[in-house]
Formats: sequence, C-alpha cells, structure tokens
Amino acid sequence: FCLKLKPQTFGECLYSFLRRFKGGVSWYTVDLDLPPSKRWSALITDKKTELVNMIQAIRDLANAFVPSGKLIDLVDITLPLMVDTLPSPFGEEIKGIAAVSGVPLGEVVLFNIFYEVFTVCTSIVAEDDKGNLFHGRNLDFGLFMGWDVKNKSWIISEKLKPLVVNLDFKKNNQTVFKSTNFAGYVGMLTGIKPHVFTLTMNERFSLDGGYIGILEWILGKRDGMWMSFLTRSVLENANSYEEAKIRLAQTKLLAPAYFILGGNQTGQGCIITRSRLLSLDILEIDLKLDRWYVLETNYDHWKEPLFLDDRRTPAKKCMNQTSQKNISLKTMYDVLSTKPVLNKLTTYTTLMQVSEGTLESYIRDCPNPCMPW
Ligand SMILES: *[C@@H]1O[C@H](CO)[C@@H](O)[C@H](O)[C@H]1NC(C)=O
Ligand SMILES: *[C@@H]1O[C@H](CO)[C@@H](O)[C@H](O)[C@H]1NC(C)=O
Ligand SMILES: *[C@@H]1O[C@H](CO)[C@@H](O)[C@H](O)[C@H]1NC(C)=O
Ligand SMILES: *[C@@H]1O[C@H](CO)[C@@H](O)[C@H](O)[C@H]1NC(C)=O
Ligand SMILES: *[C@@H]1O[C@H](CO)[C@@H](O)[C@H](O)[C@H]1NC(C)=O
Repeated sequence: FCLKLKPQTFGECLYSFLRRFKGGVSWYTVDLDLPPSKRWSALITDKKTELVNMIQAIRDLANAFVPSGKLIDLVDITLPLMVDTLPSPFGEEIKGIAAVSGVPLGEVVLFNIFYEVFTVCTSIVAEDDKGNLFHGRNLDFGLFMGWDVKNKSWIISEKLKPLVVNLDFKKNNQTVFKSTNFAGYVGMLTGIKPHVFTLTMNERFSLDGGYIGILEWILGKRDGMWMSFLTRSVLENANSYEEAKIRLAQTKLLAPAYFILGGNQTGQGCIITRSRLLSLDILEIDLKLDRWYVLETNYDHWKEPLFLDDRRTPAKKCMNQTSQKNISLKTMYDVLSTKPVLNKLTTYTTLMQVSEGTLESYIRDCPNPCMPW
C-alpha cells in the first residue's frame, strides 16, 4: 500500500509484477577453488560487451571533464601499478578480469575503486512478529556522473544495469555466500551467508573521506582495508553474526562507511557507523524499545539527513505504516519502491531472508516523475 502513496501507472505495476516473478537477474557461480585469475572468466566472457560499454561511458565522461584524454591516460599508466598492492586475491582477480575482457588493466582497477567513494543507498533489516529477519537494500549509484537530458537518467547508472548479476560463491561445490554484484567488480556491497547473516554496505560521506584513504594507499600508506574487500572477506570467513560484527566494527578502513548487518536470531540486526579508524556507533534492533527495524541511507542516524536528500523519513514512514506483523519480502519490496527511496540512481533492489538462505534481486527503473536522487 505504500506504492499507492505516489503516482503509479498500470504499466509500472505490471512491470514490477513481472520483474518480481521472473526475477530478471541471472545467476553465476564463482568457484573459489579456482585460481583467482580464472574465477571470473565465465561471467566476464558472458558480460564482455556490457562491461566494454560501461568502460566506454566512463572514458567519455572523463574526456568530457578533461577533453585532452589525459585523465584516462593517467588511469592507464598509474592504476596498473596499484593492482599488485591490493590484498590477495583481489589483485589477481582484477588482472584475470582485464585479460578476459580486453579492457586495459588500469580501467578495470578504476571500475573496482569507484564504489568506495560514490555509492548512495538505502538498507533495512527488519524483524517480523515471529522473529523472522528480512534484509533489503536499494543500490543507488552514479550521482553527478553525466545526466542524460533526453532520457532523464544518469548515464552511468543506466550502463550499470546490464552488469547486475547474482553470484553464488562456492568451495568444494558448496555455497559459501551469495551476492548481488556488478560484473567486473570483485568487492561486495550486498551479500548473504545463508542461515548465518546478511550484509550490506552504504557510503558514509565525511571530510576525512575515501579520497584521502585511497590517496594514502597510492602513496604507500597501506594499513587500512578497502571497505568492499572487508565485506567480501567477512562474507567468506566469518561464521556468525557476532564474529561478522566484530570484524566490521574493528578493522581499520580506507574510508568511512555504514555496515548494515542482519543475523539469524531475534534481535540480531544493526547499523555499524564507521570512521576510518573505529566504530562510532552501533544501533541494534531492540524489540523492548519497539525498534523492530533499523534503516540506513547515507546519514548518521543521530543526525538529520541533508534536506535535499531525505530518503530516510519517507522510508521510515512506509516501514511504520507496513507494521511489524505485516513485514515480509513483498512488503519490503514495496517500501523500497516508494519514491524517493526509489530514484533515478537506483540500479537494483535486493531482498534477503537469512532463515531461507535466499537472495533475490531486481533491476530497477524509476518512471517519471521521479527524483534524480
Ligand atoms: C536513451 O533512450 C533511447 C530510447 O529509449 C535509447 O536508445 C538510448 O540508448 C538511451 N540512452 C542512454 C544513454 O541510456
Ligand atoms: C556439484 O553439485 C551439483 C548439485 O549441487 C552436482 O550436480 C554436481 O555434480 C556437483 N559437482 C561436483 C564436481 O561434485
Ligand atoms: C545461527 O548462526 C549460528 C552461528 O553460526 C549457528 O550456530 C546456528 O546454527 C544458526 N542458527 C540457525 C537457525 O541457522
Ligand atoms: C516510525 O515509528 C517510530 C517508532 O514508533 C517513531 O519513533 C518514528 O518517529 C516513526 N517515523 C516516521 C517517519 O514516521
Ligand atoms: C499486508 O500486506 C499486504 C501486501 O503484501 C496487503 O495487501 C495487506 O493489506 C497488508 N495488511 C495490513 C493489515 O496492513
């Protein structure tokens, strides 16, 4: 019913119905038993055209910014040097992706560090009245990256949509974790360890932000962890909600971030607000305080969101209207489909249910009228 709060055409309704029942996002297996350079070959072979199109859009954007082409030259020369400084197995995996796609290595590196600094999103973990946990997120990406006046869309966001895939990471032919991802990207923004925990990451803007951390890395000060590499390592290696929480809260990072973590038992859902060095705050589900969900966009929960970008109030209003007894994957999808929680930057919506071990994702369009962010 949250959908009824906003203009909604019959076409859009039908479309989201079809999307929900057909999915629309394909699944690929990433075999962690293969050497890192080979793990992504099947996926990249399939998605090569889409990846090359995306990279071309980034080049066009960079060339519009610095017309001489010098910016991309700089990327091609300097970023390959960075690949060997990345922690294992990420450097090797990125090299493998460059080799299979034919995209210059520096540009694949750029594609992989992009998200550390430019992602705006909404994430929610909610508990229903029977103790089931649901975790949903919208991934919004591409702010200020080329507005297409004719199509009223963000150029980079549009190019990312064909790259959205679901991944099943396996060891010994067994699922270790699953994620929604962009083909060509080796970090994790959205994932589930079936029956154990669910995890999403949102960007946190701060003066001591990601640019500084990445610059320090390039200059040789490398004691922080890339955020999306930490999330992947946690999905791969942590074996409980508590263990995941400790690693996400305590590992030194390259950039500030919000980690939104859901567990497999009542009360296990939290937002970890991180500075580069430490955890500033952990807000948990607390049924005694009537806090049956935690919800994060891109602002510290104890502060007002930027007035130009308040996706939090509408999302919370919608969650409150939905109510604890009626929360489910379906109703959470509706909350995440309410404008401006859904906006022109939204590339995908993912829904996860830890007890079932499920992850499902939907590529999104926001029909006009729709906020640019
Ligand atoms: C804009 O829309 C047209 C027609 O729908 C499409 O052919 C074109 O690829 C779109 N451009 C971008 C950059 O998405
Ligand atoms: C892996 O598991 C699938 C089904 O889960 C099975 O069909 C396949 O034969 C297994 N492969 C190997 C190498 O064990
Ligand atoms: C929840 O996670 C813990 C820690 O990994 C595990 O021991 C337990 O079996 C899980 N519970 C369920 C219901 O899957
Ligand atoms: C949602 O409900 C909570 C708990 O009752 C309340 O504190 C909060 O102000 C409500 N938020 C909105 C936007 O309605
Ligand atoms: C619960 O959600 C469903 C949609 O899944 C809706 O049709 C129904 O009216 C809602 N019930 C209540 C009591 O809000």
